[in-house]
Amino acid sequence: MTNDNTVSRVEETRPNSESVVIFDTTLRDGEQSPGASMSFEEKLEVADLLDAMGVDIIEAGFPVTSEGDFEAVSAISKRMKRAGVAGLARAAAKDIDRCAEALRHARRPRIHLFISTSPLHMKYKLQKEPAQVLDMIASSVARARNLVEDVEWSAEDGTRTEVDFLCRCVEAAIKAGATTINIPDTVGYAVPEEYQALFETVRARVPNSDKAIFSVHCHNDLGLAVANTLAGVRGGARQVECTVNGLGERAGNAAMEEVVMALRVRGDSFPYHTNIDATMLTRASKLVSAVSSFPVQYNKAIVGRNAFAHESGIHQDGMLKNAQTYEIMTPESVGVSKTSLVMGKHSGRHAFKEKLKELGYELGDNALEDSFTRFKDLADRKKIVYDEDLVALVDDEIVNA
Ligand code: KIV
Ligand code: ZN
Repeated sequence: MTNDNTVSRVEETRPNSESVVIFDTTLRDGEQSPGASMSFEEKLEVADLLDAMGVDIIEAGFPVTSEGDFEAVSAISKRMKRAGVAGLARAAAKDIDRCAEALRHARRPRIHLFISTSPLHMKYKLQKEPAQVLDMIASSVARARNLVEDVEWSAEDGTRTEVDFLCRCVEAAIKAGATTINIPDTVGYAVPEEYQALFETVRARVPNSDKAIFSVHCHNDLGLAVANTLAGVRGGARQVECTVNGLGERAGNAAMEEVVMALRVRGDSFPYHTNIDATMLTRASKLVSAVSSFPVQYNKAIVGRNAFAHESGIHQDGMLKNAQTYEIMTPESVGVSKTSLVMGKHSGRHAFKEKLKELGYELGDNALEDSFTRFKDLADRKKIVYDEDLVALVDDEIVNA
């Protein structure tokens, strides 16, 4: 195992055996999160940043659902310099035609079709027989393929679908011209080994499965979205669907920053690269949090306020000796300027002395010891001791010495 954070950005847009396509759905599945809706201008701002950071495909919306979604997909299609643009559509002619219309100006348009394939969804939601669903898959993919070259087909509730039927659906979609096959864990029900095996089985059993790129799309209802995403990649998926900050329906989708950094930091176990410039992850997180009004939890992996903060004395001491003792990636690698050693009741002498040095104080042994004792008293009363508190405390020590 190594800790090499020097992997450079690779400027490819199509996957080969070692690359994974990043399909960002912050503006579609992310925006479906209750209370996360974004204005037209905000969507353009997010799309521009996603494009600049190297996202391969941006799912910009669901054009048939509203005039606003149509306009956003259309405007984003016109302005993306590098990323392909996808729009979502059900297996219905009006959805597909509206989607193609919204994508008209995209350099690389993709129609993303979906239909439910699980017994539960077919019976209660669609009220259709499996044979009807198979027909709808064939006809919808064929219609979309007449309008654009790049068609993704998704088996909604794929992980609760009978495998034999799922294979027949995937076969029908590929036969009709689907270029990407997505098997979503729509309700976040899968566990990693099972999800990996599902991809292996479908890819092995479906004729011509190598003609399509397989895709993972995981929801986080059991907190397993990223683990399942990585398992799907192990099972042969080469496209990952994700959102910034894990924004999305219910408990959210797989978080882009976590997937990208897991692939990067654990390249020894997952030898795949993405085109993402990871130094832009923090900026993207802040922007999406601001426009969606969804705060990022403090201890969120990669982009949380505490992701590179250390308070305990033992950890701070280790960090001051060698940062790799308690950090598996550098803060700079994800766009954070530096590690922060937070001064609190768990902090030790080493960090205290370094912090004073940073603030411009070099105290003798006795003054340092007195100040440290007073700092610990203060830290017992306050959650965090700020730089201003330390300055006041040391100035007082100097005056009274
Ligand atoms: O979770 C899901 O199944 C989806 C599909 C529309 C791809 O978001
Ligand atoms: Zn979803």
